[in-house]
Amino acid sequence: MRVLVTGGAGFIGSHFAKRMAAAGHEVVVLDKLTYSGNRANLEGADVELVVGDICNADAVARAGTGCEAIVNFAAETHVDRSILGAAEFIETDVHGTYVLIGWAREADVRLVQVSTDEVYGDVPEGQSSREDDPLRPSSPYSASKAGGDLQVLAAVRTYGIDACVTRGANTYGPNQYPEKLIPLFVTNALDGEPLPVYGDGRQRREWLHAEDHCAAVELVLHEGRPGEVYNVGGEEHENLEVTRRILELTGASEDLVRHVDDRAGHDRRYALDDSKLRGLGWSPEHSLGETGLTETVAWYSDNRDWWEPIKSGEYQRYYDEQYGTRLR
Ligand code: TYD
Repeated sequence: MRVLVTGGAGFIGSHFAKRMAAAGHEVVVLDKLTYSGNRANLEGADVELVVGDICNADAVARAGTGCEAIVNFAAETHVDRSILGAAEFIETDVHGTYVLIGWAREADVRLVQVSTDEVYGDVPEGQSSREDDPLRPSSPYSASKAGGDLQVLAAVRTYGIDACVTRGANTYGPNQYPEKLIPLFVTNALDGEPLPVYGDGRQRREWLHAEDHCAAVELVLHEGRPGEVYNVGGEEHENLEVTRRILELTGASEDLVRHVDDRAGHDRRYALDDSKLRGLGWSPEHSLGETGLTETVAWYSDNRDWWEPIKSGEYQRYYDEQYGTRLR
């Protein structure tokens, strides 16, 4: 199949593009190459990279020529950045998705919208979010993703487009931009820099390996029913537990841990009921607690040439704005 992977130079998108190309599919990546999109993520992969914005209908139509499906990973995704300013989130995550819907409709191709567990908001201990639960996003980021999801589902109902939505848990693995918890803490620990734990660090997330996430998206691309949403769950751990394990694996000192001012609106816990996806035949192959985190730490330790250039320039400006006062 010829498939358009939007945001395919980003973290999860590049894993997906490489996976599809390795399976013999023709892959066209459309990526704006903003701060987190990175050509290096596609190095050596047999994919065609088109630099462009999903908000630009002409760019989407050009990149999508001849494609039978579109899988949308393009998004602004970092909660802390959305708290500093949400304009780009609304532009890419809502308007960009709207443009892709228009193209999917016109070209009559399948659209898979890759979304997040954060659209459900946080859930109490003992409960997990199901696909038909109400959306209660807490951050400007998750509200934007919810807006995109709802546009997709409305277009299925109103125009009869062929589209599905996936909602994945916190994803980790190689090539993740070092602003998210795991790559930030791993690279800081490797450099002997502080690990800024928000609040008490007792927040809980489900952790999903990028390869397992991509396997789920691929399954939904082939087998998902139009108009359906599929949760992609992970393995639940408390942030402090993940932090302690990173210290062990990097051999860094516990003194690096700094409890800093909490994130505004911080969701306490996410948990997904993914039995619907498991019913299609998906199950994860990686476990964070077994080899997942160990292998990821080893990747960052062996690939300084990937992340060291990133941790300069724009990154430093963001880091100072986000953590400067907190760590002083
Ligand atoms: P993050 O990786 O930003 O993902 P999300 O907010 O989408 O779940 O954060 C994961 C958890 O780690 C979340 O509870 C916030 C926390 N966190 C910190 O404690 N310190 C940090 O510097 C970051 C980036 C996250």
